[in-house]
Amino acid sequence: MKALILFSSRDGQTREIASYAGKCISEQQECDVMDILHVGTVDWAQYDRVLIGASIRYGRFHSAVANFVKQNLEALQQRPSGFFCVNLTARKPEKRTPQTNAYMRKFLLTSPWQPDCCAVFAGALRYPRYGWLDRVMIQLIMKMTGGETDKTKEVEYTDWQQVASFAREFACFPVKSK
Ligand SMILES: Cc1cc2nc3c(=O)[nH]c(=O)nc-3n(C[C@H](O)[C@H](O)[C@H](O)COP(=O)(O)O)c2cc1C
Repeated sequence: MKALILFSSRDGQTREIASYAGKCISEQQECDVMDILHVGTVDWAQYDRVLIGASIRYGRFHSAVANFVKQNLEALQQRPSGFFCVNLTARKPEKRTPQTNAYMRKFLLTSPWQPDCCAVFAGALRYPRYGWLDRVMIQLIMKMTGGETDKTKEVEYTDWQQVASFAREFACFPVKSK
């Protein structure tokens, strides 16, 4: 049996995190990493655990995440499952836990799926890659929250050690009895 990681990423950081988590999990178990937008129908018979990771854009996850959860709720509930969310609010360590990160809190309050383990990871700020409107908006948010405002900068806040620890913890969850 394999592990499955599904990610929702707009600019690539969550894909990088999912891919690194996949590498860590494959020390213990074979692991497939797929984009939730392109996964289609999952052959759940192949997988004994599942991890979903999604980034935040303007306060929201991509709608594909909630749709996938709705359509695959039983499969998610039948096996060990984890969820991680990626955002820039989490660049501040005090906002990087499931209890203190507003996006994760809201997800857990509203989701019919309650994962066995959750993590919040800081994402990346990549001004030169954004269109002008996104660049101005992010700059404004950064100004208001005391972050980087230099439009020439690319800053990666992700704590890769945190990603590795979470992935290994997820890989150790015992398979649920039927
Ligand atoms: C247009 C845009 C809007 C964003 N909105 C938010 C936000 O509302 N809250 C937040 O904490 N981070 C926000 N971010 C930061 C992203 O969550 C962060 O850059 C993350 O690394 C993106 O992951 P991805 O590359 O996998 O999409 C935003 C980033 C962009 C480019």
